Amino acid sequence: MENIKSYVQQHKDRFISELIELLKIPSVSADTAYSQDVIDTAEAVKVSLSKAGCDFVEICDTPGYPIIYGEKIIDPNLPTVLVYGHYDVQPPDPMELWTSPPFEPVIKTTDIHPEGAIFARGACDDKGQMYMHVKALEYMVQSNTLPCNVKFMIEGEEEVGSASLAWFVERNQEKLKNDVILISDTGMISNQQPSITTGLRGLSYVEVEVTGPNRDLHSGLYGGAVANPINILAKMIASLHDEDNHITIPRFYDKVQELSAEERAEMAKAPFSLEKYKNALNIADVYGEKGYVTNERNSIRPTLDVNGIWGGYQGEGAKTVIASKAFAKISMRLVPNQDWHEITELFTKHFTNIAPAGVTVKVTPHHGGQGYVTPIDSIGYQAANKAYTETFGVPAIPVRSGGSIPIVSLFEKELKSKTILMGFGLDSDAIHSPNEHFGIFNYLKGIETIPLFYKYFVALSK
Ligand code: BES
Ligand code: MN
Ligand code: MN
Repeated sequence: MENIKSYVQQHKDRFISELIELLKIPSVSADTAYSQDVIDTAEAVKVSLSKAGCDFVEICDTPGYPIIYGEKIIDPNLPTVLVYGHYDVQPPDPMELWTSPPFEPVIKTTDIHPEGAIFARGACDDKGQMYMHVKALEYMVQSNTLPCNVKFMIEGEEEVGSASLAWFVERNQEKLKNDVILISDTGMISNQQPSITTGLRGLSYVEVEVTGPNRDLHSGLYGGAVANPINILAKMIASLHDEDNHITIPRFYDKVQELSAEERAEMAKAPFSLEKYKNALNIADVYGEKGYVTNERNSIRPTLDVNGIWGGYQGEGAKTVIASKAFAKISMRLVPNQDWHEITELFTKHFTNIAPAGVTVKVTPHHGGQGYVTPIDSIGYQAANKAYTETFGVPAIPVRSGGSIPIVSLFEKELKSKTILMGFGLDSDAIHSPNEHFGIFNYLKGIETIPLFYKYFVALSK
């Protein structure tokens, strides 16, 4: 497939400008103010799949945002690759920290991306990575090298828990039948060292509300005499970790799969510089669970983090008040064998138990999903590794990621096939953050590598 390189060279300006057009539509799934934009993005994705060469494309309505389904079936006897991606993006806030507007994509160079990167919300997560697959299909159709059947399923609610996708998958098992699921919605170690994500963490996301007095009170008249919900919430949250940074919720760790010393030694071989890690974040030291190193803390260990906390007076100047209520949004990242429903229950019970008399606690689960691990001896993994080896010149390293794509474990359960996570983003690409970007190198390398995955997957399937 020497041709893919020249095809990319020849068409790269168009590949970039097409992605830029897609990035201009603010498809923020979390905020209903953008709902028309989300729907418009679905339409744009549909058009792009038709143009790239799908024989059949449809926008499937769901209880939430639409799912785009597309396919090109060349021979029912050949294997089928199912590509999954998402066209929705995270909210862009805080706006003032963007160096250019989130939905006005521009190309800028960075230390890590000297050849330029596209700055926009969704550039890496996941419009840019999803669109690599559309352009890879275009190449395979144009060059007559598509070696098997392909199906696309692109959703618009990944960033808010994929509720409609679960609904869709349960109802369309026959339509979605496949031999392997291919996703580019993760990262790799560096542009010199590709990696394949072999694990994702599960997630339980809850919101808590602590209520004290039935109204806001004068903090002088009542201060000291009643429970202040914000003080109490802070105390309760602080108690969820002990001095070794273990999570204190009873039975939280019961089902956690511990890695063997050999597995941990294998993990430690992946290139990693603690100095660079700290410098990139401008922190004097890392922080986390005792007994584990950074790359373990953020992948094979479960966590509990406050994602947002509010209550009381936040306006200009000072107001002396004891608020009636305090709130927090809390995520727990889970590892294999932990069940997110069970963890949500353990959390709820514990958090309610530790509340002192004088406040009441309400826990509302938002969404969640199971973790995922995939073996490295599958045909899909081997095919991906061969593809990376060819385009990067070095084999890929298997890496368990700390992020979550909760729908992946559902795919395995409902569709009975393995998922291969061929990510081309970098940790420094600032996904979910201001100034998200995606390297031009990464984008084009992805388009180059994907057709090779198809080629080797079909060859190894014989
Ligand atoms: N693409 C990310 C997940 C990801 C990124 C995994 C990098 C591995 C490496 C995905 O869009 C995401 O953000 N997932 C959410 C969970 C979802 C339920 C909101 C997450 O991990 O926070
Ligand atoms: Mn994503
Ligand atoms: Mn995301």
